[in-house]
Amino acid sequence: MDPAGKVAVVTGGNSGLGEAAALRLVASGASVVTLDRDGAAPAGASTLVCDVSDEASVAAAVAEVMARHGRIDILVNNAGIGGIGPIATAEGPGDLAAFRRVIEVNLLGAAAVAAEVGHRMTANAPSGPDGERGVIVNTCSIASFGGQEGMGAYTAAKSALAALTLVWARDLSHYGIRVMGVAPGFMGTPMVAFLPPEFVAELLKDAEFPKRAGRAEEFAEVVEFIVRTPLLNADVIRLDAGTRPPARTQWSAGG
Ligand SMILES: NC(=O)c1ccc[n+]([C@@H]2O[C@H](COP(=O)([O-])OP(=O)(O)OC[C@H]3O[C@@H](n4cnc5c(N)ncnc54)[C@H](O)[C@@H]3O)[C@@H](O)[C@H]2O)c1
Repeated sequence: MDPAGKVAVVTGGNSGLGEAAALRLVASGASVVTLDRDGAAPAGASTLVCDVSDEASVAAAVAEVMARHGRIDILVNNAGIGGIGPIATAEGPGDLAAFRRVIEVNLLGAAAVAAEVGHRMTANAPSGPDGERGVIVNTCSIASFGGQEGMGAYTAAKSALAALTLVWARDLSHYGIRVMGVAPGFMGTPMVAFLPPEFVAELLKDAEFPKRAGRAEEFAEVVEFIVRTPLLNADVIRLDAGTRPPARTQWSAGG
């Protein structure tokens, strides 16, 4: 699907990977609306305040996009939060409230947005030689394929999102809607800016090549490649320089 003239929604689009994807889609001629709990719209895009973990907030924001633009062709399902904590220690059970919050944002939030936007996409006029009606890109993670010590909640959400990429593609293929995922490794965004440099160095040690943090613009390039390539469907592209994270680092929850 050529993004030019299309309408794109990017959740978590006011920072980091989502912001880069929004800017890239704007540059390619799409009308872009970010749904974010805070922050300013990327240049050339507009933004609506939305908490993806709140179904009413998602429904209202998607309805507002429809009122303003009449349709949604592209969804970058990207809003997410981090979270680290073991399931249990000698001191006591793990923090299940924190676990639930990560699931609510990273998994149930992504499902809520896919449900509202996917439904709207079914009504789109077929576009291009393949008659596409929409493209959904889920931001997964290398944790989708193996979470490190202490990353239970995040891994539960991101591995489920990777698995759902196949199922949602199957649910929506009847309508000419594709669903893909991108699984970034360590990317230099505000989400990870608090991490000590020694920790980042330890993480990047396990990349093959190049041994550096990914740039948000590289994520955006992959998103646009997916949008433009009709044969890409129902799978997750790793964007991690071949990283296979170790079970733990000296900084992870168990020390
Ligand atoms: N940075 C990395 O190394 C990395 C690696 C793999 C996957 N990811 C994933 O990429 C996505 C983007 O992360 P990022 O690194 O750009 O982080 P970021 O913190 O820079 O951006 C996340 C954005 O999501 C928004 N957001 C958070 N909770 C929200 C909610 N409930 N409703 C609406 N918006 C909400 C934030 O306001 C922010 O604008 C996340 O899903 C994250 O899990 C990041």
